[in-house]
Amino acid sequence: MDVRAEYLKYFKNLGHEVIESAPLVPDDATLLFTNAGMVPFKSIFTGAVPRPTPPIRTSCQTCIRAGGKHNDLDNVGYTARHHTFFEMLGNFSFGEYFKKEAIGYAWEFVTGVLKLPKERLYVSVYEKDDEAYELWKAYVIDESHIYRFGEKDNFWAMGDTGPCGPCSEIYYDQGAEHFKGEEDYMGGDGDRFLEIWNLVFMQYERSSDGTLSPLPKPSIDTGMGLERVQAILEGKFSNYDTQLFMPLINHVAKLCGIPYEYEKGASYRVIADHIRSVSFLLAQGVNFDKEGRGYVLRRILRRAVRHGYLLGIKEPFMYKLVDTLCQIMGSHYTYLNEKKENIKELIRLEEERFLATISAGLELFNAELANTKDVFSGEVAFKLYDTYGFPLDLTADMLREKGLSVDSAKFDELMNKQKARAKASWKGSGDAKAESGDFKELLEEFGENEFVGYDNLSWNSRILALLDENFKRVSSLSSGVGYALLDKTPLYARSGGQCGDTGFVGKNEVLDTTKHFGLNLAQIKVKEPLKVDQSVEVKVNESARLQTRRHHSATHLLHAALRKFLGEHIAQAGSSVEPNRLRFDFSHPKPVTSQELEQIESWVNAQIQKGAKAKTEIMDIESAKNSGAIALFGEKYGEMVRVLTLGESKEFCGGTHVENINEIGSFFITKESGVSAGVRRIEAICADSATQYTNELRHELGECEMELKNTDLLSAIKKLKAELKAAKDELKNASSNSSLESFDIKGAKVVISEFGGDIKSKIDELKNGADKVIAVLANVKDGKVSLAVGVKGCELKAGEIVSKIAPIINGGGGGRSDFATAGGKDPSRLNEAFKSAKELISASL
Ligand code: ALA
Repeated sequence: MDVRAEYLKYFKNLGHEVIESAPLVPDDATLLFTNAGMVPFKSIFTGAVPRPTPPIRTSCQTCIRAGGKHNDLDNVGYTARHHTFFEMLGNFSFGEYFKKEAIGYAWEFVTGVLKLPKERLYVSVYEKDDEAYELWKAYVIDESHIYRFGEKDNFWAMGDTGPCGPCSEIYYDQGAEHFKGEEDYMGGDGDRFLEIWNLVFMQYERSSDGTLSPLPKPSIDTGMGLERVQAILEGKFSNYDTQLFMPLINHVAKLCGIPYEYEKGASYRVIADHIRSVSFLLAQGVNFDKEGRGYVLRRILRRAVRHGYLLGIKEPFMYKLVDTLCQIMGSHYTYLNEKKENIKELIRLEEERFLATISAGLELFNAELANTKDVFSGEVAFKLYDTYGFPLDLTADMLREKGLSVDSAKFDELMNKQKARAKASWKGSGDAKAESGDFKELLEEFGENEFVGYDNLSWNSRILALLDENFKRVSSLSSGVGYALLDKTPLYARSGGQCGDTGFVGKNEVLDTTKHFGLNLAQIKVKEPLKVDQSVEVKVNESARLQTRRHHSATHLLHAALRKFLGEHIAQAGSSVEPNRLRFDFSHPKPVTSQELEQIESWVNAQIQKGAKAKTEIMDIESAKNSGAIALFGEKYGEMVRVLTLGESKEFCGGTHVENINEIGSFFITKESGVSAGVRRIEAICADSATQYTNELRHELGECEMELKNTDLLSAIKKLKAELKAAKDELKNASSNSSLESFDIKGAKVVISEFGGDIKSKIDELKNGADKVIAVLANVKDGKVSLAVGVKGCELKAGEIVSKIAPIINGGGGGRSDFATAGGKDPSRLNEAFKSAKELISASL
């Protein structure tokens, strides 16, 4: 049975709209990853955006529970049912139906569609939820199959803040005969009673200070683990034994040459789980990084590599599993197939990075392990992290196998000291000002306002609302900076990488135009008072807009060129388009060579010269996808989308563009650089900016020519370099050849002197020149003295001389019997020090 399809069909037939899985990186600064099916609907639950029609939905959402509030990373491999990546089937009601229907639907699906025997089904309810208890009584085999649990088990929350509520869970009893552990009781940690479906009765929103306030309408959020249901239907006790994982596990067994056995198979399972989250995150544009989400990705991959190492695999191997994963999941998640080669390359490179330090790291780990009684040193764990790239949870995982723990307090202390790293927190990146604004009210009253600026650069608009600088509604604005919501506006609001328009609202300057929850707002520097309901003439800054659109269209051509010359794996990872430049970030595992850059640049210029009329079409999303238009992964598109064709490029795009690509004029790449592992950046300019840039370069070159008094810059620079080298060599020879005054004390050659060159090599040189030598050389630089003493063929020790004279120049030092050095802070007493050295030498020879 195709559980995913059956589930969606069942709820579709009950009137739910089927929604595609949202990206793993949520549009929500309070969350690390999408960790449940309800995440994309958070603002509908809280009422921040109006409820959709129909107000009931269903989805199969890909989720990651690693890092953040719901973190299953440590359990993976050791239980039969935990994953870092999994698929959650869910049905959602936004104030439409509640407990009664949710329970009824779920029961019918489990017993009617999945046909699970009633005697094996158990449920839990929140201890105070008598209503749910009563409802379940009508379905379960008898009351002994209903359990009441406390807040820990039966109260569900998305994160530290956000929608939450009491919940009720359906369990499947896999049979006492197979499970004998103490933990295998209903609600326990064991695997006998498998929780398959969680029905959350969403009633509250938790704010950052912990208070619960009621949601506008009681709602439903449910989550059923696809992998768990698959296991039950296949008659397997572990999710890992199903067809979702076994091909991966068998592939690992083939790679390491040791057949898989469940009892000893934790490493195989860790790897089979981790390749899923790693591949999906990479496919969706997350990259290995030192912090934030990219660091969680790195932790997951490195944990898997270490488990491969345990199985004896000491070279990159994870990337090979991607093919098998695509065979299992690629037909449903087609983007996985499309990005396959790029994912493999990124994984292989990261494996290589870690494998370069893993064995030295393991050596250090084992050495420290031998000294560890029960708590492993936090300092060593930090060194493992900092020098050998072992994430803390990897060290903890290795210790767990030995029943030991790590001094994580010490680790944290050291980590905090490393200030740069401490900034790794992804929390709090939300724009608090924007979140507390009056947007919800405006949306309800006016809906999203219309952008009329594709074809118009001015418009007579009506002011629907005015906002102060904190986005609070006001009836008029007379000074300072504020925002205007216009009924229709020709001003483009910053989005899709394109900067917001500047211009004028009446006599007032528009500083920027931005979008908040779909509302296009003009940011205004108020000169002339504005009132709500007033009509105003709105003008776009024409020259800036024209320059911007050239750069935007050039970005599309660049994107097409990258795919043409570097490959189909190129995916946009960010872009910024302004009146005088463009920047395009994209996934690519290695730097773009200068030859490739030249190819790309000339192809784009050839397209511009050829010219082609821009074509925009509004179509439904399915037809747009089928037309081959490129969409930005993870971008939320409405049902109807705008598809833009510019010569050979065809993309989803809401931005403003040229009418014919020959308007771009010229295209010039100014820089290629790396942004993070696997992401490159190209910066470029076109049209007037390119001319200006070339003029600036020409000017700079002219100045260089004047300065060098030569128009052949290259040979002039080479000549200068050669002259400089010759001068340096001469200086070096002069100082090392300068003969130092020496005197003879009882057959030994004694040199006590200041020396402008390298005192250590000079001492070696002096030592080579006689059988008995004592040399005391000092070099004075920047108000400090460096001292070196060399002794050959004499009893007196170099260290002894240093100890005697270093204090005189306010310093200290030491060394061996034949060579010693010291530093001092008082050059004014150097002669005194020399005198004292001479006395000591004379006395002891
Ligand atoms: N949001 C609920 C969960 O993840 C259904 O368990």
